[in-house]
Amino acid sequence: MKHFFTSRKNFTVLAITLVMVSITVSNCKKDSQFIEDEPPSWYFDLAVPVIPYNYENPGLPSFFYSRQIVFADNTPADNPTTNWGATLGRVLFYDKRLSINNTISCSSCHQQEFGFSDTARLSKGFNHGLTGRHSMGLVNAKYYSSGKFFWDERASSLEDQVLQPIQDAIEMGMTIDSVISKLQKIDYYPDLFTKAFGDNQIDSVRLSKALSQFVRSLVSYQSKFDVGRSRADSFTQQFANFTPSENRGKTIFTSKGTLTCSGCHITDVFIGDNPRNNGMNIAVDSGVGAVSNNPMDLFTFKTPSLKNIAVRPPYMHNGAFGSLEAVINHYSDSIADHAFLDPHFRTPNGQNNQFNLTAQEKTDLINFLKTLTDEKMLKDKKFNDPFL
Ligand code: HEC
Ligand code: HEC
Repeated sequence: MKHFFTSRKNFTVLAITLVMVSITVSNCKKDSQFIEDEPPSWYFDLAVPVIPYNYENPGLPSFFYSRQIVFADNTPADNPTTNWGATLGRVLFYDKRLSINNTISCSSCHQQEFGFSDTARLSKGFNHGLTGRHSMGLVNAKYYSSGKFFWDERASSLEDQVLQPIQDAIEMGMTIDSVISKLQKIDYYPDLFTKAFGDNQIDSVRLSKALSQFVRSLVSYQSKFDVGRSRADSFTQQFANFTPSENRGKTIFTSKGTLTCSGCHITDVFIGDNPRNNGMNIAVDSGVGAVSNNPMDLFTFKTPSLKNIAVRPPYMHNGAFGSLEAVINHYSDSIADHAFLDPHFRTPNGQNNQFNLTAQEKTDLINFLKTLTDEKMLKDKKFNDPFL
């Protein structure tokens, strides 16, 4: 070194080289990490990528473009799902500050690994109070054609529904005004609202739109069922990737004598079209009837999607069944006869009808229901907790 620096020329060459190397290194860092010059404001708080995940167009298999499924989509014209809108929705969904004491987020009761439902029969709110009904799995909510939400369908749209838990006295205990002023003070929310909606205004309409976009993005299309379905011409064809038991279970699902499961859990997304009474014993909860004041709706409940059903016991609006076996025993042997029972469960001469499954048929049906588990979705980063 000593000899090297004795020449002034050598020293200049070294200095110029060092400057050039450092410029190159800093440019590379910028290019590879950040699209913009500076890291985004959420960079150290949130696992939200600079280029957003694709929520808009996840590449659904072609059978999702059937008339029935396209028709069932409840996305309103003024709130299409965008990548940044759903990204903002994801952050809000996992943010405990939406509750009054910063302890509960939407995800507390709608957990990704359990199909966005809860393992508890009733869920705990911010002050340890319990919800009146079992938490609902949110997957494929987008395809409930009437666009009504909750077990009793009391919300007329998803945009209306998502603001209710925030204000619920048991669940999150907030007012919309206080949520908005809380969000305004968190440095990255104005930026995320700008990405989603074009400017940094934070209001209840945008809050509702972003949460709804995230919920609508929860579409399951990568289960074993979906793989089989995309390779087959129809639902009823034997699926090449299914075991014989799973294929038999699929057949029972679509027909067992005059009865079907698919008559209510319809289409390839397994969701209902109407509230119904599925023969549960009538107890305290009068369901949709209490909201609509129509006696025909008494003791009926929203028919949920069965996607990811195996990972999210307990089942039904009251969490009455702890396992799929219990659900199948109900449909097979215990459908209660009462005035509110859905006509699907009656014989032409008005008797209440049961599926009357053998032990083998019960096993087959459960094996089929397990093919509806979408492991990829239950782990997908774009749906998980972004808080670092
Ligand atoms: C304390 C638990 C809890 C929290 C927190 C909570 N939910 Fe729920 N969620 C429930 C329960 C319980 C139901 C069913 C209630 C009913 O039908 O009466 C439900 C129902 C829903 C439904 C209706 C699904 C359908 O198919 O009709 C949606 C959507 C939903 N929640 C989204 C959210 C969002 C978004 C948040 C956060 C802003 C949230 N929830 C916070 C427990 C919770
Ligand atoms: C007449 C319509 C109808 C038929 C037929 C029907 N279901 Fe249901 N299913 C419902 C309704 C409505 C609910 C919600 C009821 C409640 O919560 O009280 C439900 C709930 C379920 C649940 C629990 C979902 C959850 O999120 O907790 C499972 C599992 C289920 N059904 C499977 C089946 C299977 C398997 C069959 C065929 C053996 C079947 N259903 C036939 C209407 C029906």
